[in-house]
Amino acid sequence: MTIDVRRTQLSEARATSTVVSDALLFPRLTDEEWAVRESSWVQTDSISAWDGSRCVGHVGAFRFETTVPGGARLATSGVTRVAVLPTHTRRGLLRTMMAQLLTESREAGLALASLRASEAVIYQRFGFEVSGEAVDVKVTSRDALPLRATVDGTMRLVPSDELLEVVPPIYESFARRRVGAVDRTPYFWKRILKEAIDVTKPAFVAVHTDADGVDDGYVYYEVRWADRADGSEAGAGVVRELFGADASVERALWSYLFEIDLIVDWTSDSRPVDESIRFAVRDQRAYHVTTRWDEQWLRILDVDTALTARTYGPAAGSVTIRVVDPLFADNNGTWRVDSTGARREEDHVAAHLVMPVGTLAAAYLGGTSWSELAGAGLLEVVDAPAVAIADALFATYPAPYCGTFF
Ligand SMILES: CC(C)(COP(=O)(O)OP(=O)(O)OC[C@H]1O[C@@H](n2cnc3c(N)ncnc32)[C@H](O)[C@@H]1OP(=O)(O)O)[C@@H](O)C(=O)NCCC(=O)NCCS
Repeated sequence: MTIDVRRTQLSEARATSTVVSDALLFPRLTDEEWAVRESSWVQTDSISAWDGSRCVGHVGAFRFETTVPGGARLATSGVTRVAVLPTHTRRGLLRTMMAQLLTESREAGLALASLRASEAVIYQRFGFEVSGEAVDVKVTSRDALPLRATVDGTMRLVPSDELLEVVPPIYESFARRRVGAVDRTPYFWKRILKEAIDVTKPAFVAVHTDADGVDDGYVYYEVRWADRADGSEAGAGVVRELFGADASVERALWSYLFEIDLIVDWTSDSRPVDESIRFAVRDQRAYHVTTRWDEQWLRILDVDTALTARTYGPAAGSVTIRVVDPLFADNNGTWRVDSTGARREEDHVAAHLVMPVGTLAAAYLGGTSWSELAGAGLLEVVDAPAVAIADALFATYPAPYCGTFF
């Protein structure tokens, strides 16, 4: 029987959620859970695959904006809920569904697609590449203190019923500063802050307020209790989110955590790769990176919009880059990039660097240098000195980091 791949009807959302649970090996949603989550399923873009009346595959996408270098925010298809039942894998269903989703996203005017990958070998074939990384860390309070520099300001714990009002605007100040961050819908906020809103859970949000009385950072943390060998209880601190308007505010937030009694170590499974607190702790080994991982996979849907929306660093000269994209004809072309911006060139203009659209995604947010990508053979270098110029143009600080899982 042929498999029908098409847009999902609203009435079919529950069936697609069951496919996602089954393929990702999660428990299926109960009626109670579905009542809470249904709105998020019906509001997302959704393509599904049907074997007769049975749903056997699904890809979905949220719509949000991603901050790119210079501060512009680009409309993004946040690809999610990617699943094909084990009874129907490896016969091209994901390929067909993904092509339809990316095509419809581009037609809708979205410039980027972004996702979090369960496995790193799945998405490069569709033009995605790793554009931002993150780290898991373990920080020992005793060895971190005292910090090398302190910041003026005060901390306060936020009551559960004020969280949805207080936290999102502070997050915005982070999201506008950090390349790779995304805006969050009210649905996302309810999901993210769920444990802190639930007063029965040991999860807390503390806010930093600057000397002028402006809230400029927050840390969202929880504690997991375990029995020690001697029968006493030990608290393991988990940092869920720690975002500030700048690095000095984030230092103040970490400092607050280190001073909390009863917690020896703090862990986090998502921090930026270039968090400056690691240089401010007394003993640099107090801040220990346990894993570095591929956080953000990007697919550039509209190369011209993406290249012209971001800003570029100071560099002596310009570089011409040619992009090859088998999916979108309009993305095939040559662009000249210099410190003032990017412009499309005529096709006959010679290119210094030639690359698949995925390689451009890897360099686009400035998280990976062109030198590294060239070293890995991920582009054709026609003019060797152009690589250093491209490095200077595309480099960003701070490094790309999203901090939102979807
Ligand atoms: C990942 C998944 C969606 C792939 O679906 P699928 O319909 O089997 O994929 P396709 O048949 O369209 O495969 C397209 C290509 O990707 C390759 N591929 C797909 N999934 C792969 C995987 N997990 N590992 C290696 N290669 C994979 C296929 O071999 C095929 O390669 P080809 O183009 O060279 O022939 C499916 O295996 C699945 O649901 N896995 C469990 C849930 C999951 O991991 N979802 C992703 C969440 S981010």
